[in-house]
Amino acid sequence: SPNLSTCHPTSSQIPDSPHKTSHEVNCCPASPDSGEPIIRDFQFPSPSSASPVRIRRPAHRLALDTEYLAKYNKAVAIMKRLPPDHPHSWHRQSQIHCIYCNGAYYQAGAAADVPFMIHESWLFFPFHRFYVYFHERILGKLIGDDTFALPYWNYDSPDGMPIPDIYMKGELHDMKRATRHLPPAPVAIDYTPDKLDLVDEPPAAEQTATNLALLYQHMVSGASKPELFMGCKLRPGDGACSGMGTVEAAPHNSVHLWVGNASTPEYEDMGTLYAAARDPVFFAHHANLDRLWAVWRRLRGYHGSRPEFDDPQWLDSHFYFHDENADLVRVRVRDAIDMDRLGYAYEEVDLPWLDARP
Ligand code: C2O
Repeated sequence: SPNLSTCHPTSSQIPDSPHKTSHEVNCCPASPDSGEPIIRDFQFPSPSSASPVRIRRPAHRLALDTEYLAKYNKAVAIMKRLPPDHPHSWHRQSQIHCIYCNGAYYQAGAAADVPFMIHESWLFFPFHRFYVYFHERILGKLIGDDTFALPYWNYDSPDGMPIPDIYMKGELHDMKRATRHLPPAPVAIDYTPDKLDLVDEPPAAEQTATNLALLYQHMVSGASKPELFMGCKLRPGDGACSGMGTVEAAPHNSVHLWVGNASTPEYEDMGTLYAAARDPVFFAHHANLDRLWAVWRRLRGYHGSRPEFDDPQWLDSHFYFHDENADLVRVRVRDAIDMDRLGYAYEEVDLPWLDARP
């Protein structure tokens, strides 16, 4: 777990990064949560009418829901106008990613300065679940709507593969994306910068079939055990363990790199950890990954709060987030396991990749 008083400038790239250059980044808040910040332990939203279930819907089906789009754009606009060091500001919301993914904190209790990094390990899904959870609740709070839910980028379905149109305009747009990958190009879940920037993209139908087959592999045939799906078991004191779960590798990494601007050395925004969450589509990408985690659990028979690993070193690992009241909250991995207790759900869609056994 991180030691909050250790935030320090760090490198824009982690050791396994596909990028050839790196630079120093400082993602720490200007006035850090040092001294004795008041921290409360996470509490589940109460299952009452006071906290209605938020239903996350597929982004590509929301293009005509003008009422919803107005709300979502308004909430993001408010975030972008907050003073940059307010914990709810767009700036600080996106810096959370840089802090936790580029190792800006050292681990609590470690003998030496060991960076705390959540990628390429079993912390990947739980950390991002809470990141999206608090971001969504803050957006809702800013517009006074406690039913507000983020959309998910349903790229595991043929109609949902391009960057969703709603992210191509207004507050949800980001200039720093690969121009050759804008709609209607379907995402390339097999994307790797080295291989694919040199060649023409395959026809859409071919790419769609490749995507579905790879999803089958990473969600089903190659992900039969939690070790394969969740990633390696990062232990306290370990700097990294470099064992990505199947879905973290693809679609997670591949979609990030595919969206990012390939003509900059580090593929900003989406294609690099320190900048990825500056692009609003980041949150739709991670909502879908969060959903895929829930789908995988269902397919594998993990119900309710049954954890993938009954291991206190995992279950008691924790992270800190500001909640919708701007209180600093400590969340544990064990609080992330049972999605139903968190007051949100995903609108169900077909899973065409289940039939795409190569
Ligand atoms: Cu922490 Cu999509 O990355």
